[in-house]
Amino acid sequence: MPANPMPEFTSRTPVSDKLFTRAKTMIPGGVNSPVRAFNGVGGNPIFFAGAEGAVVQDMDGHQYVDYVGSWGPMLLGHANPKVTSAIKDAVDLGTSFGAPTDRETYLADLLISKHKEFGIEKIRLVNSGTEATMSAIRLARGYTGRTRIIKFDGCYHGHGDSLLVAAGSGAATASIPGSAGVPEELAALTTVVPYNDANALAAAFNAYDDIACVIIEPIAGNMGCVTPQEGFLQAVRKLCTDNSSLLIFDEVMTGFRVNKNSAMGLYGITPDLATFGKILGGGLPLAAYGGKAEIMDKLAPLGDVYQAGTLSGNPLATAAGCAMLEQLDDAVYTKLENTAEYLEKELLSLAKKHNHSMQINRVGGMFGIFFADTTPQNFTEVKATDTDKFSRFFHEMLEEGVYLPPSAFETWFISTAHDSEHLEHTLKAADKALGRV
Ligand SMILES: Cc1ncc(COP(=O)(O)O)c(C=O)c1O
Repeated sequence: MPANPMPEFTSRTPVSDKLFTRAKTMIPGGVNSPVRAFNGVGGNPIFFAGAEGAVVQDMDGHQYVDYVGSWGPMLLGHANPKVTSAIKDAVDLGTSFGAPTDRETYLADLLISKHKEFGIEKIRLVNSGTEATMSAIRLARGYTGRTRIIKFDGCYHGHGDSLLVAAGSGAATASIPGSAGVPEELAALTTVVPYNDANALAAAFNAYDDIACVIIEPIAGNMGCVTPQEGFLQAVRKLCTDNSSLLIFDEVMTGFRVNKNSAMGLYGITPDLATFGKILGGGLPLAAYGGKAEIMDKLAPLGDVYQAGTLSGNPLATAAGCAMLEQLDDAVYTKLENTAEYLEKELLSLAKKHNHSMQINRVGGMFGIFFADTTPQNFTEVKATDTDKFSRFFHEMLEEGVYLPPSAFETWFISTAHDSEHLEHTLKAADKALGRV
């Protein structure tokens, strides 16, 4: 027997581990969406039993202060009483009709009234953010009669074939598919340029004359949180206008999150089309795309661009969405701003106390922390940050009862349910975690 035997490793989540083992036998990787698998930070995912407000509970009985918020929708916290009661009221009337309902128009009105000033005159409801961006791109191609699209490196717009394309170096590089199964011929129609680089975008416009649209996350939230530099979005808008290409703002994450008028309202920019999801559905599968009536009227049954959905405008999802949007007043955004600002300030001060170089990019209630000396402005810079340290930090925080996004390339989301008790718990946990990583 050695003098100092290694302590035996015992998992603190044996029930989750068992459920994960079983899930893997029937579901690829044990998860129904890859990032849930903890591949970005190592270890096994935690299986959830339920959630309320800012707190989630796992199947082993542990509770965590949650900064994932179902990847964005839970702006008002989990199980928001008005949202859950709207769903309960709707369910007794039937779960799907495949025919129009008044609530779809009411939800359209709630969305359009907040974005009409920025060119959103008509919308179409769909079931996921992926469906919204795929459909918006088809519409842009149908409207302009052009084929090429431009996206930015590190921006995620769902898993549509044209959007799963890795960046080459520099602007206008021949693109390669970022996923097996995406035909090279299709990937070749997507040009990828670095975020926050208007010159690279201009070079792409010089290189190609068949650009149907540029799609962008106005605040990038899928490479951690990367904010647009001053003048960048304006330059993107101008280049699209000058080249008669459509500008698509993908607001699936930023819509209703950073401002009651979304990022387009925050920055005062009118896109030609925009996509929404996450918060819009109040936690149920619902998304939308919309824009100028002249463009939207190209959609069937009026026009020749086809897009449809058996469950589109689903009564439960629209009930949840309406109950969510009805609650989004100025007080919500003031609270989110104050909460997130406090957390940002205190986390930075703890990082300093423990001699870590930490950067935080934040807009309203969405933010990303980076272990780095300077603030990343694009995906190349994000990838150069200390992601190993983030992984250690993630696990230390989990141990202390704080659930962060399980990847350095994801955004943290604050809700109005995060109160001072949750924040103090988080900061105490961060103090310990930063001392250990
Ligand atoms: C900006 C953005 N667009 C599109 C999507 C795809 O949405 P969904 O996962 O609902 O298909 C996401 C998902 O995270 C997203 O963040």
